Amino acid sequence: MRMTDLIETKKAGQALTEGEIRWMIRGYTDGDIPDYQMAAMAMAICWRGMDGDETAVLTDAMLHSGDTVDLSAFGPLTVDKHSTGGVGDKTTLIVAPVVASLGGRLAKMSGRGLGHTGGTIDKLESIPGFRTELSAEEFLRVVEEVGVAVIGQTGNLCPADKKLYALRDVTGTVGSLPLIASSIMSKKLAAGAKSIVLDVKIGSGAFMKTEAEGRRLAETMVALGRGHGRNTAALLTNMDVPLGHAVGNALEVREAAELLQGKGDSDLKTLCVALSATLLSLCHGWSREEAEARVLDCIASGAAFETLCRWAEAQGGDSSVLRDLSLLPQAAHVRPIYADRSGWITHMDAKQIGEASVVLGAGRVKKGDPIDHAAGIVLAKKTGDAVSTGDVLAWLHTNQPDALDAAGQQVLSALTVGEEQPAPQTLIYGIVR
Ligand code: URA
Repeated sequence: MRMTDLIETKKAGQALTEGEIRWMIRGYTDGDIPDYQMAAMAMAICWRGMDGDETAVLTDAMLHSGDTVDLSAFGPLTVDKHSTGGVGDKTTLIVAPVVASLGGRLAKMSGRGLGHTGGTIDKLESIPGFRTELSAEEFLRVVEEVGVAVIGQTGNLCPADKKLYALRDVTGTVGSLPLIASSIMSKKLAAGAKSIVLDVKIGSGAFMKTEAEGRRLAETMVALGRGHGRNTAALLTNMDVPLGHAVGNALEVREAAELLQGKGDSDLKTLCVALSATLLSLCHGWSREEAEARVLDCIASGAAFETLCRWAEAQGGDSSVLRDLSLLPQAAHVRPIYADRSGWITHMDAKQIGEASVVLGAGRVKKGDPIDHAAGIVLAKKTGDAVSTGDVLAWLHTNQPDALDAAGQQVLSALTVGEEQPAPQTLIYGIVR
């Protein structure tokens, strides 16, 4: 087989055969197919797409390009969740202890933040001492004892996706439905959980800008999960506005801990309850109503908060910072941003808010950059809120005072203030089972 022929086939809009896709992924993983040919193929896929059968074979080929995790020792209640990425998305910090408190077993690998989107590993590492690199034995022991462990991507899981995703990142080829679906699902399937919930983000801070695009991605991924015998569902959720009020690592840990202590943002709580209840109905077979009632009770009773503390301790973290949130990393400089006119916030560009938090030190421009766990933004107003001149719109937190002016400008330009009250935002557009 010749890679140039495969590129020509896809360029002409024709489907690749199963044999061709498996040959291409094996050759690329082994280094026999060079980056420039794979980049041309990724671009052809961006333009021409792939049908359902091609996407399924691509996913399977990447899934089997390296090791897979066997979680069968934990029985049928293994669960996993994945968000397609967003701003202020701290749902794992809340959903994980809730689901673990209610019998689920969450053995999860997560990523670090890059660009405007945050990563769960960075958030967890803002708890002093929290180790996100554990040996295989430690990882499984923590899952056994607490019901949840989260570590960074390790080992030889989906090496084909690792290489291809890095290539797509620098060749303008991330934005393709079959490439995104196969990339996410190959990793989720390799990680071994029996039940998977996907949070497909839609809006200005997400890959998918419209509900129709998000729904197609969700349907494709759910079909891939089911095709591999996993209970899979996807929620389509709003990322036109950052989730909750905090953006930035320690600030998000604070918001998550507060929510589990019974305080906090209602949108964040609604989404976390929906994600947790969906996972629990998949793994226990509970009805939606029963799952939601149990989740709400688990939060109200403080059981989920206690699991969060035990989880942090089991991974080496100092749980006293969760009980006394003033002990979390704090920025030396905190500046308010004021409204310069009165009206209603009619739109917020979530991506720009995420980028402003990177300027303050909370995120990375490129892989490997250091981050400041204390940095970030706390939004005092969000889309739909009324503002008067002089009201605080947001608080900027940083240890780099030079960054405050630029970040402040960016937050202001991310907000649109109009004269009419906007229609209420939809938080959850739907669920794909
Ligand atoms: N996240 C992934 O893991 N892969 C993609 O292609 C996009 C988002």
